[in-house]
Amino acid sequence: MDGAPAETEKKSVIVVDGAPRRGGYTSELTDLFCQGVLESGGEPVRVALSERDIRPCRGCWRCWEPGRAGRCVQRDDMGEILDLYLEAGALVLASPVYFFSLSAVSKTFVERLYPLLAPRRGAPEHRKRGPDRAVLIAVQGHRDAELMDSLVRTFELTSRALGLAPAGVLLRPESHMLDFSMTSSPVVDRSVRAAFLSAGRQLALDGRVSPETERAASRPLCRDDALFESHTEAYWEIAAESEVPYSDRERLRQAVADDLRLLVPDLASSMDAKAAAGLEAVVLIDPGAGPDKRWHLVVSGGRCTAARGDHPSPDLALEADDRTFREILSGRTDAKRAMSAGSLRWRGDDDLATRLWRLFPRGGRSR
Ligand SMILES: Cc1cc2nc3c(=O)[nH]c(=O)nc-3n(C[C@H](O)[C@H](O)[C@H](O)COP(=O)(O)O)c2cc1C
Repeated sequence: MDGAPAETEKKSVIVVDGAPRRGGYTSELTDLFCQGVLESGGEPVRVALSERDIRPCRGCWRCWEPGRAGRCVQRDDMGEILDLYLEAGALVLASPVYFFSLSAVSKTFVERLYPLLAPRRGAPEHRKRGPDRAVLIAVQGHRDAELMDSLVRTFELTSRALGLAPAGVLLRPESHMLDFSMTSSPVVDRSVRAAFLSAGRQLALDGRVSPETERAASRPLCRDDALFESHTEAYWEIAAESEVPYSDRERLRQAVADDLRLLVPDLASSMDAKAAAGLEAVVLIDPGAGPDKRWHLVVSGGRCTAARGDHPSPDLALEADDRTFREILSGRTDAKRAMSAGSLRWRGDDDLATRLWRLFPRGGRSR
């Protein structure tokens, strides 16, 4: 609410989590939001929709009949959820994006709010009860946030129909990238989660989420489309090799995060363009397990691209075993120290070798 403190308003916030998957990104970000609400004196009431029995609206219109207006004929968990809804000051609708829209269970929940609509002028105004504002949390795998445009429009129109003022739209694209700490954008990585926490605080304190926080929640994690595409391809390739069940997010994260197929393109993307001014060079990364396990970094025109495979005439070749490269690129081992210890070796252009630390200031330093 613009400027108006929320003191006199109802403190409970009904947070409906429409993610069918437990422990996924929607639930994680929604947890942070709830924590923010709680820390600021609000009372989040969380409902995991997929754990409840909520049947689809039958479209029978019985809930509009005189004498029983506002009540659904179906006897399932929606009756209890509707009671929580009517007690709340705000609604938070959190959903993963499924085919550019709400998940089915989220949509079913929204449909079952139909008894709250007033059928005609003069009929009981059911919508006057319950929350007066709504926040959307939508989480998708793709990078392009505009793919959620129709979902956002649906949220706005639904809010209007239910008499709810839109109080925040938190869109999180590139969801799977949240599990990987990016060398090329480490600050963004942390600020996204912080934004969901702040958003909860703001809803409790100010009655709405600020546009800055909305932007912070949506901030791209990958520096560009090319890095997103290479990460996504590598993610599913490594996942397929790993034999980890895809539902086990933590084990999958471990399997994927520590692989050169993610780490090398991220390193390339992190190059400092200023430090590379005027430089045209090829750097070979050789983990010593055959040509198909090698990588080469092509530095040209202030950009660095990573390509899998060998190169016939690199200016500089870096040699170490796969584990040492992984430790260096993930920030667990300092590259200079690895060089002194002899576990990281190089041959080729001496000047380029000494310039590496300036080109990749975060890529070779322990974090
Ligand atoms: C049935 C299904 C449909 C999906 N459709 C889309 C889509 O249209 N756009 C998109 O970016 N991601 C799509 N995804 C990916 C999910 O949005 C993404 O994995 C998200 O993180 C899932 O939420 P969760 O992590 O809470 O499970 C889809 C996933 C599933 C299972």
